[in-house]
Amino acid sequence: MTVIDNTNQDLIGRDEVNDIEAILAITNTDRDATEHLVPHTVDTVFTWDYSLTRPPLRKLYEKAKTSQWNGTTDLPWETEVDVERTIAQDQATLGAGFDISLFSESSLSKWGDKEWLNFGIEGRRWQLSQFLHGEQGALVCTAKIVETVPWYDAKLYASTQVVDEARHVEVFARYLDEKLGGGYQINAHLGLLLDDIITDSRWDMTYLGMQIMVEGLALAAFGFLHQTTQEPLLKKLLRYVMSDEARHVAFGVLSLQEVYAQMTDVEIKERQEFAFEASVRMRDRFLQQEVWDRLGVNTKEIAPILLQDPTRTIFQQMLFAKIVPNCKKLGLLDRNDKWLRHRFEDLGVIQFEDWEDTGEEYLAFELGKDISTPS
Ligand SMILES: [Fe+2]
Ligand SMILES: [Fe+2]
Repeated sequence: MTVIDNTNQDLIGRDEVNDIEAILAITNTDRDATEHLVPHTVDTVFTWDYSLTRPPLRKLYEKAKTSQWNGTTDLPWETEVDVERTIAQDQATLGAGFDISLFSESSLSKWGDKEWLNFGIEGRRWQLSQFLHGEQGALVCTAKIVETVPWYDAKLYASTQVVDEARHVEVFARYLDEKLGGGYQINAHLGLLLDDIITDSRWDMTYLGMQIMVEGLALAAFGFLHQTTQEPLLKKLLRYVMSDEARHVAFGVLSLQEVYAQMTDVEIKERQEFAFEASVRMRDRFLQQEVWDRLGVNTKEIAPILLQDPTRTIFQQMLFAKIVPNCKKLGLLDRNDKWLRHRFEDLGVIQFEDWEDTGEEYLAFELGKDISTPS
């Protein structure tokens, strides 16, 4: 078999990665729905080999068993969250996440402090909502891994991740409901990605999409918000979730390393394309279309300014700080004439390739350890 060269059109439905019209044409059309069905078929694998063959996975399993926490009793839910004050404080540290002066020629030029504060509040609701929906994606995907992965050690470990993800869904949903007064529907780009991951019948693709890409980005995003927010309940919630997420990303790295080392170029190319497609979908969601819509702003007018804002670009690139080194560790960057390396160069994120990968980093993220200095 020869390696097929798919175009951007084949992979992400457009030729130009930054085609704003095409990005914004993808919207959530069933925003009032309370259910979303994804038909798919997979093989459920029983294994009769109960021997310990993968010690690193068993070590992770043991660690997971002793690192459980209770979302109801371990977090200070009695904390009063003054949303306006919290966001105002965080904006004072962070800014609005981008350079407001760039909007001076746009319809946002008439926005004052009140409007930008409101944007910050809606942005926080939106961001935590996407975390929440992503957590449910992780819950479903990991339950699927329990069924489909052929290895005994991996089934045991994945079962602990299912419980972790249930807890993450629980705490983000509760925070949004009790402290922020409600959230947002799933972003269309994130929704497409979750559908792609769950539909693929190959068990390693669930890992690649969820443990490496979605959770790799989540770990970076949680870390950034954890460092910057001064709201004590959210800070603690994120710290607890991160201690679990670091194990989840390690689970992906430790499992896929073995599998990918044995794959042909054709098989690896499919994984490289999947990683690229997932990267673009995750990047596109950061236009926050739904927030602008809710505030009555025309996203088409704002998007070109957002895409050119260097502050925002740096923030967005940082979200790939875990994904790129992990892809490198899995051997995905340079196979097939450096295919994924070139795509990551186009996305402006290749500079993270030699940052620490997440195969062992979970030990540094254990509860009680100081993570204030980023590794
Ligand atoms: Fe999670
Ligand atoms: Fe996770």
